[in-house]
Amino acid sequence: MKRGLFITFEGADGCGKTTQIKLLQEYLQYRGYEVVLTREPGCAGLGQKIRDLLLNYDGEVSPVCESFLFLADRAQNVDVIVKRNVDLGRIVISDRHTDSSLAYQGYGRELDVEKIDMLNNIATSGLKPDLTFVFDIDVETSMERIGKEKDRMESSGKEFFERVRQGYLKIAQKEPNRIKVINAVDSVENIHSKVVNLFVELEEKLLK
Ligand code: TYD
Repeated sequence: MKRGLFITFEGADGCGKTTQIKLLQEYLQYRGYEVVLTREPGCAGLGQKIRDLLLNYDGEVSPVCESFLFLADRAQNVDVIVKRNVDLGRIVISDRHTDSSLAYQGYGRELDVEKIDMLNNIATSGLKPDLTFVFDIDVETSMERIGKEKDRMESSGKEFFERVRQGYLKIAQKEPNRIKVINAVDSVENIHSKVVNLFVELEEKLLK
């Protein structure tokens, strides 16, 4: 494979993405791929500082300011980590990416979804993930999994998270080829095998 692949994991807080990213990484490495993990917000270096502002600042934050901070972090992630590694033939997995801005700032904070989409395109210079997993979870279970210690985003309330969930499902309907919705309330093993099957499907498509 000359060019590598860009895979993103999405879903509400507490959906189990992190566990599944680790399992997919192990599977891909076993298959002989070079894998690079990154995340938004908070890729290496500058991204860590933006992450700290976004999650730990305890004063008022305007939704537009919040959106631009996530977008700034995304531009850094794409330019410094994602593009370079994909160009070197590696598989880059990002824990959250553009669909988080659409779901959280667009649907969750009720900003203009089309504008966020346009700003996402500017932040990524049009680069799109080859495959995206959306882990779908009901708000009750997600709240239970997060527990009492919540960061700024996690403290946004049940109605906000209901909008985020429905937002993800609408985004997925618009791009069924790229975005695969997986029920996150299932065993770790079952979810992992669904993830692997969908990866293999993509691999087969690319080899044709
Ligand atoms: P994080 O601790 O990484 O949460 P998780 O483990 O659930 O991914 O925090 C990231 C938070 O930022 C999470 O609540 C989702 C939110 N977020 C947005 O609101 N917009 C975005 O564009 C991104 C990338 C994240």
